[in-house]
Amino acid sequence: MPRDFLNTADWTREELEGLLLRAARFKRGEDASKPLAGRSVALVFFNPSLRTRASMQVGVYELGGNTVILEPGGTSWTLEHREGVVMDGDKTEHVKEFVRVLARYCSAMGVRTFAALKDWKEEREDPVLAAFAKYSEVPVVNLESAMHHPCQALADMMTVRERLGEGRKRVLLTWAWHPKPLPMAVPNSFALAAAQMGHDLTIAHPPGYELDEDLVREINGRAFDAGATVSYTHDVEGAFDGQQVVYAKSWGSREFYGRPADDVEERAPYRGEWIVDAAKMERTDGGLFMHCLPVRRNCIVTDEVIDSPASVVIDEAENRLHVQKAIMTRLMAGG
Ligand code: CP
Repeated sequence: MPRDFLNTADWTREELEGLLLRAARFKRGEDASKPLAGRSVALVFFNPSLRTRASMQVGVYELGGNTVILEPGGTSWTLEHREGVVMDGDKTEHVKEFVRVLARYCSAMGVRTFAALKDWKEEREDPVLAAFAKYSEVPVVNLESAMHHPCQALADMMTVRERLGEGRKRVLLTWAWHPKPLPMAVPNSFALAAAQMGHDLTIAHPPGYELDEDLVREINGRAFDAGATVSYTHDVEGAFDGQQVVYAKSWGSREFYGRPADDVEERAPYRGEWIVDAAKMERTDGGLFMHCLPVRRNCIVTDEVIDSPASVVIDEAENRLHVQKAIMTRLMAGG
């Protein structure tokens, strides 16, 4: 078992299944143990959050522990992560010291560090998360990095299972129009986890919005290993046919990475077309509607769909709490 929870791909399917089982026990109220009693978890937020911050804080409390919440550049010093730089700019402290100091106080740390959407080549390597993992002497939980949001993906897999039962499902990940380019962490992690869990995955997006090639290879390989399929399409309506799950998310084009105005122009024709609406949901096999939240209503999804019984977005948010408790218990208390 890995020391950290950075990416579901680092964990075997059996290990992920174990986390889901434990999360379900927490949700049913069957496990009230306090494995974090007397211990603290640092939560480092470079970016805003509702669900991640609240669910981690509540989860650590329910496991008997204490949280230390830090916001570099706000409630703690600005942080440099690059190696060997002359720190004569606006960064006050290096991750090397920050992480090693925190590890003397805390038994684990979570970190949220979004893509800056400036330099694809650099950001696809997840440099800030990698620096945390490298220098930390305690487990690190990825609370959404440039490339991955594994806690969200695990909560999504739990939600699919509790609504549709175990086994292979037909799952659509669809790009949706949003007024500005967004990072790819959520679609990357959802697609990867769905493939690892053996779901038949369709990924729909307009031309030019392909996911990272290495990640696509990984998704295809994991699906193959799990006996599942992956298909890719630009057909915004046909993609919905017969699906049991519709997962909507917007992301930016790598072609226009660092040039948001060009991406906004490129995506303009897709407004009103790449939206999840009732007509598209009619084409599914009674499909669930999923989104990680926050969501822009009537851009990504219509009010009619997100307010319908098919929508499980609040369950997904609740399940963040249960899966994160399972992750923290596994990383910090074994078992
Ligand atoms: N889905 C999710 O991570 O929500 P927050 O950004 O509010 O934490």
